[in-house]
Amino acid sequence: MSKLKHGLTRRHFLKSTGAASLLCSLVPGYLAAADSGVIKKTVPSTGERLSVIGLGTSRTFDVDSTTAAKSPLLEVMQAFFDNDGQLIDSSPMYGSAEAVTGALLERISNKQNLFTATKVWTNGKREGIDQMEQSMRLLGVDRIDLMQIHNLRDWQTHIETLLEWKAQGKIRYIGITTSHGRDHDELEEILQQLPLDFVQFSYNILDRDIEKRLLPIAAEKGIATLINRPYQRGGLFRKVRGKSLPEWASEFDCTSWGQFFLKFIVSHPDVTCVIPATSKLKHMVDNMAAGYGRLPDEATRRRMIKTIESF
Ligand SMILES: NC(=O)c1ccc[n+]([C@@H]2O[C@H](COP(=O)([O-])OP(=O)(O)OC[C@H]3O[C@@H](n4cnc5c(N)ncnc54)[C@H](OP(=O)(O)O)[C@@H]3O)[C@@H](O)[C@H]2O)c1
Repeated sequence: MSKLKHGLTRRHFLKSTGAASLLCSLVPGYLAAADSGVIKKTVPSTGERLSVIGLGTSRTFDVDSTTAAKSPLLEVMQAFFDNDGQLIDSSPMYGSAEAVTGALLERISNKQNLFTATKVWTNGKREGIDQMEQSMRLLGVDRIDLMQIHNLRDWQTHIETLLEWKAQGKIRYIGITTSHGRDHDELEEILQQLPLDFVQFSYNILDRDIEKRLLPIAAEKGIATLINRPYQRGGLFRKVRGKSLPEWASEFDCTSWGQFFLKFIVSHPDVTCVIPATSKLKHMVDNMAAGYGRLPDEATRRRMIKTIESF
């Protein structure tokens, strides 16, 4: 998908200006072509296709849930769906983020491809069930697409419930998450043992530890991968402050540092979806643009690493 000035995608521009219907009447098939441009990857356990750019909610959505639907976050969420976004990741650990997500979703009409992902983050079977039921209420859904065990917490207990819930159709997929390197050895054993559909961990252009063992194991076991902390909580932008984007970034349809970082991640063949968090419309549009156009090949990915490591 070609990009317009200011990092807006053609799709967003067309939607926000109403130019889409004009173009559609002048150029038959135009929107159909634009619509088919989003990059999707396959969830190995079912073959379902998922847009590669998802949305995280930690901190950015932890605001007053009673006023969220009237806040700028509604535009942020709307831009996510207008640009083919699907997967939204939350957790009871993120304060009011689940309630805010639910309140915003209520106001979005084009959310037919929504894929809800949240987590269980407590100890004990009964506590886990109560928490997951609460998450459904807060998100306003009667089925969660992906339920993940947050930070490996009490996984031996929750896995039993998750298998039961999956069999009953209350959830569609089971996952587990971490963002800590110190959990990687235990996570590796868990991936070998449990019948998981998804695993979530941190990966970005400067933190590539999971390339060594976890990504290959996930690929071998047919487990989809979600990537958190793609911007190191914003730290990567501080690293490139004042630096110009290399000209060769245009070879993979990249017009900003945000797209540079996200395209690096989703171009890894064993990555399924990345979940950057943002509270700003401008950043959301920028992030979603990374889900369109060409991706860097392996040689270009090496060049991207060298560039960032040289700063
Ligand atoms: N253990 C776990 O399960 C676990 C752990 C960590 C994270 N996660 C999940 O992963 C998600 C992402 O990780 P994260 O929130 O820690 O950090 P992140 O996505 O790496 O970084 C978020 C920060 O980047 C900024 N940002 C976003 N898009 C930008 C853009 N295009 N240009 C410039 N700045 C931009 C945001 O600020 P603005 O608001 O100003 O845009 C925000 O401060 C979380 O929200 C959560 O859902 C899960």
